[in-house]
Amino acid sequence: MPQRDSQYSAMMEQGLAAAKDLAPHQEDVFRMRFRRSERDLFGPLQELYGAKPGYEQFCRDLVSALIRLQTERPGALRHLDLQRDLEPDWFQRQDMVGYVFYIDRFNGTLQGVLDKAGYLEELGATYIHFMPCLKPRPGDSDGGYSVMDYRAINPALGTMADLETVTTALRQRGMSVCIDLVLNHTAKEHEWAQRARNGEKRYQDYYWTFEDRSLPDAYSQTLVEVFPAHAPGNFTYYDDMKKWVWTTFNEHQWDLNWSNPQVFLEIVEIMLFLANKGVDVVRLDAVAFMWKRMGTRCQNEPEVHQLLQALRAASRIVAPALIHKEEAIVAPRDLIPYLGQGKHSGREGNLAYHNSLMVQFWSALATRQTRLMTHVLRTHFPESFVNATWGTYLRCHDDIGWAITDEDAAAAGVSGFAHRGFLADFYAGRFPGGFARGGDFQSNPGTGDKRTNGTCASLCGLESAIGANDAGAIDDAIHRILMGHALICSFGGIPLLYMGDELGQINDHSYEADGHLRHDGRWMHRPKMDWTKAGRRKDQATIEGRIYAGLRHILDRRRATAHIHAANPVSILDLGIDGIFAFARKSPVGPLVCLFNFSERWQSIPRSSLEAAGVTEWFDRLANAAVTLQNDTLPLPPQGRIWLT
Ligand code: GLC
Ligand code: GLC
Repeated sequence: MPQRDSQYSAMMEQGLAAAKDLAPHQEDVFRMRFRRSERDLFGPLQELYGAKPGYEQFCRDLVSALIRLQTERPGALRHLDLQRDLEPDWFQRQDMVGYVFYIDRFNGTLQGVLDKAGYLEELGATYIHFMPCLKPRPGDSDGGYSVMDYRAINPALGTMADLETVTTALRQRGMSVCIDLVLNHTAKEHEWAQRARNGEKRYQDYYWTFEDRSLPDAYSQTLVEVFPAHAPGNFTYYDDMKKWVWTTFNEHQWDLNWSNPQVFLEIVEIMLFLANKGVDVVRLDAVAFMWKRMGTRCQNEPEVHQLLQALRAASRIVAPALIHKEEAIVAPRDLIPYLGQGKHSGREGNLAYHNSLMVQFWSALATRQTRLMTHVLRTHFPESFVNATWGTYLRCHDDIGWAITDEDAAAAGVSGFAHRGFLADFYAGRFPGGFARGGDFQSNPGTGDKRTNGTCASLCGLESAIGANDAGAIDDAIHRILMGHALICSFGGIPLLYMGDELGQINDHSYEADGHLRHDGRWMHRPKMDWTKAGRRKDQATIEGRIYAGLRHILDRRRATAHIHAANPVSILDLGIDGIFAFARKSPVGPLVCLFNFSERWQSIPRSSLEAAGVTEWFDRLANAAVTLQNDTLPLPPQGRIWLT
């Protein structure tokens, strides 16, 4: 195919000629990938940085860095690059199952992960997310999200060599590895921040520093606070520097200045360095906050998507086996663009958390009604994405923010403010007769906003049921847990199981005795793995045995159901029954209609509405059995779930 040479291809040719380290066929492959993605890379960069002095030198430096990182890429990973270029849907398949944990809380160290690889395999996990494992600042590090060295592993967990060993060993067992890459900020102990603090102008330009309060005050007019209770404000004053520094999250987390192209260059090199250690997925943390614009909330600005597209293009050139997960816990309208919309379609994140599905699950579970859930998921979300899909989840390491807008609530006939308040109260265990046990997070007296902590099992009622020694309530809680998992395993995307949820682990209050953790209630739902409970997982007479077997069954059925491939569109059905949530997956092998009963009574779904949705076989793929209609309706018990063909 004839190619017109761009100035960037010319830089690439010069770079290759100078490098001479790649074998001729590797050069060829690199050249093809560069040409494939150069517009995706340099288009946004030109718009972001083209007018800055030194732009051309920046581009040359970037091209040489890409070539160097390509040269350093190990042979086994180059092989994987070819394989995944041939099978680009590898992460969308119905056999993908995610499992998420803090390495120390799972089994101590990276080596400890290998010791438990059999457990991960038995569960069916194929995507292992190590919560932050790069070297954090000493003391409180926000669970590792305050990184002081991106090229070293947290010494308490192991070494970079251990990471390579683990990624290699897990890959041989069919498991991919996801690690966090914190893009919005570094620890104030990071070398760049230290040098900035010591007065080096070059590194002060890596962050947002201010001589006086005037700009911070002006920005603050429209900013929100992420941690209003334990880290109020968005700026911190350092007496030794005589400057204010932008610190959106905690004081020790300094926001990077992405309007400086050198920051882009540094992070690209770090990202591909980690890819070359065998990482399959980078979870790009807190991406919404990357670009600052006066007069806005400084979240989800259009430039964020330019940056993320450029990062993705860099990966596609050097390490196409790598995919990007973008962490943006934001409203639906703002969330969808992270999976690539409009000009970024197919070019941005491959994965994003389906925060709305998660919030709506908990909202429907508390109210036993599904109008709001159906409305939100039906109105705001496209049926599918190009080369991208959701990470679906019930719980993760973070709190639940009740991201339900006033408009959506009104459309479902409720007050947004009152409903958000109800959910916070319900899940904190303050609602009379409610089943949930949890805690408030970052109550903001100014806005009346409250977020929620708690494990999946405790929020589903298991903790209160065990406390009351109530066998019926324990059954209900287990059914809620399994209905939730049947939902996230069929909706489309990679279901992300949070460690311990497969055993029904409940809230753990031991963090309250730890001086570094006490201020952050999220540790309540980050219990250590209970290996004693895990030892009972095959015993159906135990609660953990019932949850584990139920979950294993769901995952087995997911793998056996081709309709669930994430590329198959999801359309939300409105069956007009408040209490039932339903969607159809269109697939080449016919439709799959999934139904979930959030109400606490039997529901009858008319045959005609199911036929209209495409059901012909009356076979429940989840139970792996035919269903029997009664009087031309499908009966569904409380917490019932069905995947119907
Ligand atoms: C992400 C993490 C969260 C952390 C924050 C700051 O949102 O999920 O745990 O506090 O980033 O890095
Ligand atoms: C906010 C942020 C999210 C972060 C969370 C931590 O929701 O948007 O990125 O994970 O706070 O609690």
